[in-house]
Amino acid sequence: MCGIVGYTGTRPVQNILVEGLSRLEYRGYDSAGVAIEQDGALQVIHRKGKVGSLAHTLGHFDFSGTCGIGHTRWATHGRPSEANAHPHVSCDGRIAVVHNGIIENFAELREELEAAGHAFSSETDTEVIPHLIEEACREGADLFQAVREAAERLIGAYAIAAVSAEEPGVLVAARKDSPLVVGLADDGSYVASDIIAVLDATREVVVLSDGDVAKLSPDAREFYNARGERFQPEVAHVDWDVDVAEKGGYPDFMLKEIHEQPRVIRDTLAGRLVNGALAIDELDLSVEELNLIDRVYVIACGTSYHAGLIAKNLVEGWARIPCECEVASEFRYRNPIITPTTLVVAVSQSGETADTLAAIRDARVKGARVFGITNVVGSPVARESDGVIYTKANKEIAVASTKSFLGQVVSLTLLALLLAQVKGKLKMNQVRLLFRELADTADQVERILLECGPAVDAAAQACKDAASALFVGRGMGAAIACEGALKLKEISYLHAEAYPAGEMKHGPIALIDEGFPVIAVATKSPVYDKVVSNLQEAKARGAMVVAVATEGDEEIGRHADHVVFIPKVRDAFSAVTASVPLQLFARAIALERGCDVDQPRNLAKSVTVE
Ligand code: G6P
Repeated sequence: MCGIVGYTGTRPVQNILVEGLSRLEYRGYDSAGVAIEQDGALQVIHRKGKVGSLAHTLGHFDFSGTCGIGHTRWATHGRPSEANAHPHVSCDGRIAVVHNGIIENFAELREELEAAGHAFSSETDTEVIPHLIEEACREGADLFQAVREAAERLIGAYAIAAVSAEEPGVLVAARKDSPLVVGLADDGSYVASDIIAVLDATREVVVLSDGDVAKLSPDAREFYNARGERFQPEVAHVDWDVDVAEKGGYPDFMLKEIHEQPRVIRDTLAGRLVNGALAIDELDLSVEELNLIDRVYVIACGTSYHAGLIAKNLVEGWARIPCECEVASEFRYRNPIITPTTLVVAVSQSGETADTLAAIRDARVKGARVFGITNVVGSPVARESDGVIYTKANKEIAVASTKSFLGQVVSLTLLALLLAQVKGKLKMNQVRLLFRELADTADQVERILLECGPAVDAAAQACKDAASALFVGRGMGAAIACEGALKLKEISYLHAEAYPAGEMKHGPIALIDEGFPVIAVATKSPVYDKVVSNLQEAKARGAMVVAVATEGDEEIGRHADHVVFIPKVRDAFSAVTASVPLQLFARAIALERGCDVDQPRNLAKSVTVE
């Protein structure tokens, strides 16, 4: 949610900023801007729209300045416009700031600053920051000191980068509850919301912690903690490849990431079966503590919530522990029953979703053990949980989640197996068998990717002009349908709803008329016959049925207009396989409708606001 990049060093900064922002565009893309120090002043350029539009404008300038900051925005306060695009500047235009997060007390601060004579030119919460810094500078502070003083006044979440025309080459960065890293290179220092933006230049990074402030210049770097004490930061070496930020021959990131799923499954499972038993050491709970767990909540948002719905089926089915799955934004504002024997599992691809984080904090205060499942090492979700499983999806760029979802489902499946193992509900040989079958899904997904394209495309052709679609399933299929519908609406803007198939008759069936698309998860499962009956009800009313079904099912063709066959797997693992054709289906329809599948309108990859 908003991407920040900054640089001070010996190289001209213009292209560094544009390239960094392009890599961060997944965080927001409604407007973009830069501030570059040039000949004793700040050149501030904003553009509405994507980074490409800013890059085009900057192409006319070719600034030679070697210190600057940039931003790509996902609007929170104030609509997407040039005026609301970052960087924001002080009254005299000599201080510029980019910010990611939300300043909750901005209205009071703005009132106070306006009363002191500051003129504002945007509707954003961010704009209070350059004015607060300007105020402190008027009192004699340098940029570093002024950023610290300003930060002390802010309530909410922020990652900030600031420059001042009065102090050429100095870049100050600060963070609280929003990610920020400093990249260390021979030619200078880089600042970014995400490591991916600096990987071309360096693999040595410092991940700032809450309250940290970094003062950077071409030949020096100083790091201070929340108490104002200078410290030597721990430098992390990033060993993954910048290729993850490239499309690698695929037409879009979404397709590339869908095709990475077999690898994600294998990596997520690697090393988990030790001496014939499941091992998740990161959980940091003893067998005795695990054995005491008598209630599980899975909390998450968006696609991650759907992974949680799958987990509920598995935890209850295998471990026989009551398990609720709840969206984090609801969980945090009610009063769930939490005791010291409650396990809260927080699932978040980005590891920085504000609602999920708030729910984690709340659950811990109430005494629960919290376990995080995330894709981002060292993210707030990882740091604030008692234990964590990393999903090994690697960086996901397309805004609509695919490979992260599969990584989450596999991780949650492992967790459910572990709880069943510890509780003695599954014997060791059963756990081993299930583990092996789960591992086999990597090959099965590979086959789906090779073989189901034509059937998916034909179904997409048939549905692309619909105004609305209904996704149905039962049991695991109902949860899979939820994710299928979300994927479709996220990237194609075709309205889609998911319903448990058995519930169709209590309302949604009224929607069905001639040609209305009903997309069914109709894989072989204990409720297969029930799903087929529901499809007959839909068909009788003219629905155009698309079914995801199990290879060898000769009956399904009688009830569906289009069938996408996938390999047979145990019902417990059907989410891993059946989700894949639904991802491809959503993408195919989005492309038919001329949509940008990687950067759908109004969305952002990580949502750090409430
Ligand atoms: C946003 C993204 C979704 C994601 C959700 C939760 O809405 O667009 O793809 O599922 O946030 O994000 P998280 O990082 O917590 O999984």
